[in-house]
Amino acid sequence: MTKRDFITVEDWTPEQVDALLALAVRIKRGEVSGGLERKVMAMVFMDPSLRTRTSFETAMFLHGGHAIVLEPGKSSWSLETEAGAVMDGATVEHIKDAARVLGRYADVVGVRSFPRGGDWASVRDDRIVRDFARFCEKPVINMESTRRHPCQQLADALTLRERLGDPRGKRFVLMWAWHPKALPTAVPASAALAAAHQGMEIVIARPEGYELDPDDTALIRKIAQERGGEFVHIMNDPDEALVGADVVYVKSWGAVKQFGRPEEEALMRQGLRDWRLTAPRLKSTRGGGATVMHCLPVRRNVEIDDAVLDGPTSAVVDEAENRLHVQRALLLELLR
Ligand code: CP
Repeated sequence: MTKRDFITVEDWTPEQVDALLALAVRIKRGEVSGGLERKVMAMVFMDPSLRTRTSFETAMFLHGGHAIVLEPGKSSWSLETEAGAVMDGATVEHIKDAARVLGRYADVVGVRSFPRGGDWASVRDDRIVRDFARFCEKPVINMESTRRHPCQQLADALTLRERLGDPRGKRFVLMWAWHPKALPTAVPASAALAAAHQGMEIVIARPEGYELDPDDTALIRKIAQERGGEFVHIMNDPDEALVGADVVYVKSWGAVKQFGRPEEEALMRQGLRDWRLTAPRLKSTRGGGATVMHCLPVRRNVEIDDAVLDGPTSAVVDEAENRLHVQRALLLELLR
């Protein structure tokens, strides 16, 4: 039997994704227990986490299983990711060997690996997480890679349904925000894909130069259309974009054309600090009360103001909670 990985949501059919979300709803209602007794998840964190780590550990515990966390370069050997590398430098173990060995101990393996410099063309294929899946004989879950954060995408889809009832045709605005660092595009692409999957009308508001990867933009458009939604357009003025929004998903990301050239990118974002969700801006959304989303961690009063994050329409903690429910559903689906 071939194993089943979870690298992107799009690798699964829309019906499979809808079934996962339906299971997550039942789990959240307390209708599902057990199912992972004596199962083990190994999680490889090449980058830090609060929510992903805690929610997966909790998910395994709640269903009778066990989770192990590895942090290469800290509590476990530093990993070499290049094929054919002559390993006479700092890295101690090749991911090919790590993936094969973890597949012998664990029933499922999670991998988090953010991009590490180079140029965009060389990292946009998510090679590290895909190599892990290629070499590991057990299912591999992408816990955030260069291009995708599929577990966040599931949690965001569930949150959209909870907040909007039927999200179809409602307006989802993905709003770029200033941040002191150039962040990956995995979350904004995944968030827009979550809204597309729900058949929403999608607006991407970003300054000139901050386009998502063109393949991701095309995929968002294609899925939105297939699911009965509409890809409205790209705007470079946050005030204009927010008018009539039902949901504002705030996220910072780096310019992919300047990827690997942080000094150049930093010059681009100079003068863009005004790209921040404030209480007056929220007032211009539908009824002055759009649902506000962010994957967290968030830079308060840099990306979103306190008054908005702590206000009645903020869904950011619900999104974080929903990570637990969707991941419980995912683990049950992969391992039962
Ligand atoms: N949203 C999210 O993935 O959070 P962590 O980086 O804390 O895991």
